[in-house]
Amino acid sequence: MTEIIINDKLLHLRNDHVSYVICLLEGGIPAHMYFGKRISGINPAAILRHYDLPADGSFSMQGCSLDHVPHEYPAFGLGDLREGAVSVRQQDGTRSVDLRVTATEVIDGKPALPGLPATFGDNAKTLLLHMKDMLIGLEVTLSYTLFDDVAGVMRNVSFRNASDADLVIERAYSLCLELPDSRYDLITLSGAWSREREMIRRPLTMGEQGVSSLKGATSLHNSNMLFLARPETTEEQGEAIGAALVYSGNFTAQVHVDSHRYSRAFLGLNDVDFQWTMKPGETFTTPEAVTVYSDKGLGGMSAQFHRVCAEHLVRGKYAKAPRPILLNNWEATYFGFNEEKLLKIARTAADVGVELFVLDDGWFGKRDNDTTSLGDWFVDTAKLPDGMKHLSDQVHAMGLKFGLWFEPEMISPVSKLYEAHPDWAIHIPGREPVQQRSQLTLDLSREDVQDFVYEAVAQHLREDGIDYVKWDMNRNFSNIGSAQLPADRQKELPHRYMLGLYRVLERLVNDFPEVLFESCSSGGGRFDMGMLHYMPQTWTSDNTDALCRCQIQYSTSLVFPPFAMGSHVSAVPNHQTGRITPIETRGNVAMSGCFGYELDLNTLSAEELDKVRGQIARIKGLRSTLLYGDFHRLLSPYEGNDTAWITVSKDQNEAVFMLTRALAKSFTYAPLIKLRGLAADKTYTVAETGESYTGDELMNLGLSVKLPWGDAASVSLTLKANA
Ligand code: DGJ
Repeated sequence: MTEIIINDKLLHLRNDHVSYVICLLEGGIPAHMYFGKRISGINPAAILRHYDLPADGSFSMQGCSLDHVPHEYPAFGLGDLREGAVSVRQQDGTRSVDLRVTATEVIDGKPALPGLPATFGDNAKTLLLHMKDMLIGLEVTLSYTLFDDVAGVMRNVSFRNASDADLVIERAYSLCLELPDSRYDLITLSGAWSREREMIRRPLTMGEQGVSSLKGATSLHNSNMLFLARPETTEEQGEAIGAALVYSGNFTAQVHVDSHRYSRAFLGLNDVDFQWTMKPGETFTTPEAVTVYSDKGLGGMSAQFHRVCAEHLVRGKYAKAPRPILLNNWEATYFGFNEEKLLKIARTAADVGVELFVLDDGWFGKRDNDTTSLGDWFVDTAKLPDGMKHLSDQVHAMGLKFGLWFEPEMISPVSKLYEAHPDWAIHIPGREPVQQRSQLTLDLSREDVQDFVYEAVAQHLREDGIDYVKWDMNRNFSNIGSAQLPADRQKELPHRYMLGLYRVLERLVNDFPEVLFESCSSGGGRFDMGMLHYMPQTWTSDNTDALCRCQIQYSTSLVFPPFAMGSHVSAVPNHQTGRITPIETRGNVAMSGCFGYELDLNTLSAEELDKVRGQIARIKGLRSTLLYGDFHRLLSPYEGNDTAWITVSKDQNEAVFMLTRALAKSFTYAPLIKLRGLAADKTYTVAETGESYTGDELMNLGLSVKLPWGDAASVSLTLKANA
């Protein structure tokens, strides 16, 4: 149970798992005391002694230098000379902020954030720390929510201009977390198209370090999260803290280590291209930051993130429902299809047990390649002469659901939409627009554009019998300017864009609750907790090579559970790497996510088609464990030749184990892999071999696994607890 204990100047938030403690210094400056495993109490004097360094008297507070004490929400430039979490410009051009706590408030549950995705849940308590800068009339409220079932704290910050002049927010991070030492490794997820979210681990060092995005989206290149693990922390043991932003646009994730080796972690809106003018009486709310703590290694940290995603972030019909096994035509046909070709693919898909047929890019305008037509969301009758409804009716008649691809945030310069509304594109007047994939970005900060985007999609959802939408987004921001915003608000565009996008998505998911939405951005370029609030699954990467996917899915699982990851079996040679892998391996890797196929099944041999049939039948039987069980990483592809993981059902009666070996080895023993998450006292039978083991044997001695011959060999085993 969560409790928030307020004892004079000490604020102690805790549940069964963690404690978070704040101490109000003289004058009401909130100092950070502790975030970690649940404790019964704290002596603030002892903590402050740790920071008690000789200092210039003018900066001191209760004997401590403000430049050394740990702050909850520091502002640069008064007593604390380190980088701060907040900066606000006033009428006279100065930017100092001095926030003092005026009131504390405890509420049951968790308030929603206006216009922003956020975690939710009733089993929670929230502390609101109301602060004010008396000189400039700025009110700031720090919000801390603990859910009973999560070892973590959900944080965000809201601002109100209580003065009679404009205030301009120049920085408003969602999270500042001070740590009393720097003996941590910083782990980030960084990459590029087709190799998203590589796990990078390096020791914290003096100075500033971190990752960020200015691309208008979370990006293929960096994820909006950071993880701090003790150097000795492994997958199973040791301390780890993780922080992830519930947002999908520009961000910064930084850790600053100062000369005394104190560490200050920041997460929030990237201020290089951000500012926000608050008129008198206006408010501003930052995105939410999810912070979790584990003393059971990175695996324990991921378990907390997975719980946040499953219980407090994903909504709607599909939040806990089986996800349909799909076939997507993109790599099967690219732009070269007609109705007959699609129906032929769909027919075979239906025959082997696929449940959803998805028509990808190329069905609208005159889009025979990627140079035209984004924005012209009317059916290309050269390809589909009888329209979309006709196609979806036939697909439905085969017993399949029907899904459709959109890239609604974009506009091709070669399109009817651009002819009619050139100003709807983000652009800088007089400058040649920089194109990426021959397209521009629609200015979603505008309400008229938001309404157009909503209607472009909604019309098809109303009329064409669509059960699933793949929502793609394939370029970064450049030439950042809005025809509608005044000069002094142009820096608001990136964040206004996100608010506009969220407004559209909120309307769509509410108006079409039966539709399954999958988010995509050139693969996994916007794989974040923000999009997950609207769309319960995300296309993990355009790279469907099974060995590459071992890495990508392994590191994505640091935060996201299997039900969030779109993962498909594609053709060989793989279209991204040219590698040939067995169909078993492609299936085994893909099945630990939202499973599907990305190929023309008609090109497979009868033997392969039988294997596909077998894969689908098996996955249907195991789907609730595979999607919603507890996922444990066992062997890391970042550390060796083998990748292994296991998903265990919540009741521990069923588990699916996967091992994939990249390069074959000769004359070597069968790997013996310690499993995790099973019930020690249950006996499990491996369905494929008939062998039985106790849970404690499997977790302490391990399971010896025989791999087939050849490179990219893989085994997937089903473990069932004996009755
Ligand atoms: C990028 C996506 O990641 C792909 O899956 C595919 O939908 C293409 N866009 C279509 O243009």
